Amino acid sequence: MMIVQSRFEEGVTERELHDAVPHTQSWSPEQMCILNDFAHWLDMWRRDFAPTGPRMVIEAVAGSGKTTVLKAMLVIVRRLCPSSPTIASAFNKHIAKSMREALVEERRKGLTGATILGRSNTVNAGGYDLLRTECHKRGLSMGVELGVPKYRVICRQVWADFLGNLGKQLEYEGGRDWRILMVIADELEVPPSPRQLWFRVARDLESLVSVLQDCGFNPSEDIKEDRRRIEAIIEANMDSRSLEGSSLWAFPYPPNALDMARDVLIIGRDRAFDPSEITPKDMDNAVVPRPSFHKGTGFMQDARYDTGLYPLRRLGSDRNHWANKTQLLWPPRRHRWGSGDGRQTNNDTCTMSFSDQIWLPSALGLSLNKYQIAFIDEIQDLSVTKGDLIRSLLVDDGSETVVLVGDIRQGIMGWAGADREAVKENALASKCIAYPMTYSWRGSYAVAESARRITHEATRMAQEAWPGYDFPPFQDHQAPRSASNWPEGEDEITISESDLASRVAEVRADNPDATQAIVSRLNGPLGMVAIELVKQGIPISTPDSTEILDSIKWVLKNEYKSPKNKHEKKGISFGNPSGAIPSSFASRFRMLKLWCQEQAIERAGGDKKVAEMEDRFVKEKDDIDLADSLVALYAKTNPSEYSISRFNKWVKNELFGSSDNPVHLTSVHRYKGAEADYIYLLRSLTMEEESRNIFLLDHMMHKSPQTAQEEVCILYVAATRARVQNIQVVTEGGI
Ligand SMILES: Nc1ncnc2c1ncn2[C@@H]1O[C@H](COP(=O)(O)OP(=O)(O)OP(=O)(O)O)[C@@H](O)[C@H]1O
Ligand SMILES: [Mg+2]
Repeated sequence: MMIVQSRFEEGVTERELHDAVPHTQSWSPEQMCILNDFAHWLDMWRRDFAPTGPRMVIEAVAGSGKTTVLKAMLVIVRRLCPSSPTIASAFNKHIAKSMREALVEERRKGLTGATILGRSNTVNAGGYDLLRTECHKRGLSMGVELGVPKYRVICRQVWADFLGNLGKQLEYEGGRDWRILMVIADELEVPPSPRQLWFRVARDLESLVSVLQDCGFNPSEDIKEDRRRIEAIIEANMDSRSLEGSSLWAFPYPPNALDMARDVLIIGRDRAFDPSEITPKDMDNAVVPRPSFHKGTGFMQDARYDTGLYPLRRLGSDRNHWANKTQLLWPPRRHRWGSGDGRQTNNDTCTMSFSDQIWLPSALGLSLNKYQIAFIDEIQDLSVTKGDLIRSLLVDDGSETVVLVGDIRQGIMGWAGADREAVKENALASKCIAYPMTYSWRGSYAVAESARRITHEATRMAQEAWPGYDFPPFQDHQAPRSASNWPEGEDEITISESDLASRVAEVRADNPDATQAIVSRLNGPLGMVAIELVKQGIPISTPDSTEILDSIKWVLKNEYKSPKNKHEKKGISFGNPSGAIPSSFASRFRMLKLWCQEQAIERAGGDKKVAEMEDRFVKEKDDIDLADSLVALYAKTNPSEYSISRFNKWVKNELFGSSDNPVHLTSVHRYKGAEADYIYLLRSLTMEEESRNIFLLDHMMHKSPQTAQEEVCILYVAATRARVQNIQVVTEGGI
């Protein structure tokens, strides 16, 4: 009889091996302890000998078997209590998808309680379910925001009311003379255009509200205490959420801005299940920019383009129409032909925003009280608010089973309130016992050593930029020491970018079954690599071509025309080939990049260096690079058909459609949780005749310690995907 170490009950240090533990593979002693304790604990709960089901948290290095253990636990549930309502989910879409597959498989084998959250099986979908159930309880139906985000509207309402109130006190009828805006413009050193500032403040308010929601801020009765809490959240998220340049800090009396954010959240929370239309509090006085094309008003005849702000009452009798045009009504009224000013048709529908799915359950303390057993993978991506959401989906008699697994070294969602503290707090909130898993079972010794070396070097760089900051313990990553016959693997090597394709071909020739993946921090370089591999006749694939196509959709679809302002997104008019011959695409891509750069410089107030570091611009360049390479490849094979749908089909089915043990081209984000024998890390490439770092992006490394940490975490994820060997790919000149 086999005896296994046990940890969950005081005084019991060993237990017999439970029958329900599956023997699908040879478990390490640590894994065996986890699975056996899980089985015994669940069994005791099932027979009423324990008040709760198992509560476990496993925080362990990449490849330690976290996902494998979760899946084995589903088997145990199937064997012991197959009808208990069970979820297995994650925040990350594709991890949630792999959990969904496991659930479907177990359900097929008899786990009748297995439940998939929505279609995607993500935690968000759980939030959606909860809100919908809540709506139904109240006899309402639920809609979800479409083009216009709900909190944008509420922010505009609160801001318009704020100015309205001010105008009323000063008995000002509207125009360009808003003292408060002049002070703000002065402080920000921008032109004193009331119209532009109105939009800017509204937008900055929306950003702040979104940070507060992610951090689970819930307004209380005490406005002063709330101000203090909001200030603390702002301070903690200033860099990582790019709040530095916010116009809210330029308010002459700063608490005004914080109070507006608080008001937005109070309205969002308290009126969430109120199906009546949400409008500004004082429609007559709410202050908005003069709508363009507002011909009806006689008060601005001599000004050709009036940038003043006016109370709605001055825009004439159709103020509802103008309020709607300015996005001040929730839900937005839709115009239907012949229906006057577009009344709201459904008065028993509540329209929710995407952020409501996570925030509202926590803000209102809602509970679904439904699932008995929950498995959550990749908990380093969960904020406390998201953890709260999971808890609110579970039965509320305190008997639930909760197993959380994750790795703080792979945390790449810090901007959304997920961090080391959140992992601890979530484990504490669910009263989980910590179980260790010390070794990475994915890679050979050589891979583990390579991962340590690469992250050591990267941490050193990050520490240089942020001395004193406590970076995650990447050096804990090790291959199993106890397994004496563990594969040595192949030592990490560094090759030059020009040798990449021939190296891939060589590995294929030596071992046709070996799996290979090329992972990149950015998407753009994948297109260039695709060209090289296709040239050599190597079949390629990608884990999610839809994601790739979505990221470049704007580039292809948008109009090829110089942008009117610094925000407008243009493209290359791919689907509209009026006059576009293939050879002209290359110049369009060049032009588009130039426009984006000019816009970024303008956004940065003329500072080219700052523009180069801007998140939006870096992403735009990346998308353009990818589109450029893929279109070039497409042009070679499909010389005459220039439609987006044809192009998309070609990318999906032909370019990435191979099933002949293709080489995977993937972003790191998309490859979380996955593995291959040989992993190529695209460290640097020659792009536009200069050598560019593809990992440890400069602008992130120097933005804040949190973003620097994320860069190292991303590299850690990439460096821990290989089973046999890591191959670093660098430009001719080295990294
Ligand atoms: N005891 C073991 N012996 C041998 N191989 C194992 C063992 N446990 C897990 N593995 C293998 O190690 C690899 C990594 O496992 P898994 O994907 O579950 O790890 P993970 O901790 O979820 O990784 P990640 O952090 O990347 O999500 C898989 O190929 C799995 O089959
Ligand atoms: Mg995993």
